[in-house]
Amino acid sequence: SEYPHINRGLDGIVAFSTTKSSIDGQKGELIYSGYNIDVLAEKATFEEVCFLLWNDRLPNKSELDELKNELISQRNLPKPVLEYIKTTNKNAEPMAVLRTAVSMLSDFETENSGDKAKDSRKHAIAMTAQIPAIIAAFDRSRKGKKIVSPLKEGSTAYNFLYMLNGEKPGDAAEKTMDLCLILHAEHGMNASTFTARTICATESDMFSAVTGAIGALKGPLHGGANTAVMNTLLELEKEGDSADAVAFTKKKLENKEKIMGFGHRVYKTFDPRAFHLRKMSKKLSEETGHEKLYEWSEDMMKTMKDEKDIDPNVDFFSATVYYSIGIQPDLFTCIFTMSRVSGWSAHYIEQSENNRLVRPRALYIGEKNLEWTPVEKR
Ligand code: CMC
Repeated sequence: SEYPHINRGLDGIVAFSTTKSSIDGQKGELIYSGYNIDVLAEKATFEEVCFLLWNDRLPNKSELDELKNELISQRNLPKPVLEYIKTTNKNAEPMAVLRTAVSMLSDFETENSGDKAKDSRKHAIAMTAQIPAIIAAFDRSRKGKKIVSPLKEGSTAYNFLYMLNGEKPGDAAEKTMDLCLILHAEHGMNASTFTARTICATESDMFSAVTGAIGALKGPLHGGANTAVMNTLLELEKEGDSADAVAFTKKKLENKEKIMGFGHRVYKTFDPRAFHLRKMSKKLSEETGHEKLYEWSEDMMKTMKDEKDIDPNVDFFSATVYYSIGIQPDLFTCIFTMSRVSGWSAHYIEQSENNRLVRPRALYIGEKNLEWTPVEKR
């Protein structure tokens, strides 16, 4: 035909090369800069994963200590950002507040060393350190609770739970949180990372790239799915003893509704992250008396497999994991952000090292050279 082929949703298009992650959608394999996600899930900490993504290698002991200290030193939010968080609409969506606050952070990072790589690293650390503080501060502020200042010690996971709850978390909660951060850190050319790289490619700054990426992650087809999954499970819970997750799922499918937390553009098999989250979800649901939520999740999973041959993605079991550690559903996508900022900033660094403007084309399907009609005659 005379028309060029349009690849809707850029399905299968390879637009960049990267050393940050590899996804094999047939095997269900995920690699971050050389390391299999299963190994990282078992052995790494989130801070080690950040270093890995930013440097393409694991840190030695002193490099890791240095990074942890830098993250700790950057945890405090600038006063006007705190002021914004305290005074904005308490009913605002947490992801919208996070997007605005991250955008504001750039107003306080005006020093430019002239060395782009050095500045990028500094900005990546600043955002990774401050995003948890923004999320916790907004959640407390909207509940009328006192905002908790960050600790001068402890991991990103530990400090976040402390700022959110106002008390120091136990080992198990910290470990769960840390593992969630590891599992969400990086995932190829997903919509938000593509957005971040596109913004980077105009030679714009990292704060702009991350702000744009947050906007992309917020949507329910991307990171927003984890909140949607929890809302679905809570809908079932309202049905009480008569709740039937199999019938519920079938009915939604009959109505041509999408089941959130299922399906993926790249994985045509079980998402390896979902494998870890499913194990955690089972254990935590039992420990916290949310067995029903887990059972329904399993029922939904089996129904989706039988009816559509579609597997769960990262967002399906992360929902019950967060819920079990006491996090409110509308914060789930913020937690995804807290982790994925590491991947976005890694891609920003990579793109700026070997940049070319991202500028695809659109096929014009409108009319051409119409005759002009004066306004009074239209
Ligand atoms: N529920 C019901 N049907 C589905 C689902 C689902 N969750 N996902 C895909 N399908 C069907 C889809 O309707 C289509 O059927 P048909 O060929 O009959 O029209 C077929 O499977 C192929 O799907 P697609 O729409 O071509 O897939 P896509 O690659 O364009 O979209 C997706 C991928 C993730 C947007 C989609 O699977 C979806 O909307 N899932 C629900 C939202 C979700 O969980 N998003 C999180 C994605 S993973 C991590 C993240 O980004 O946060």
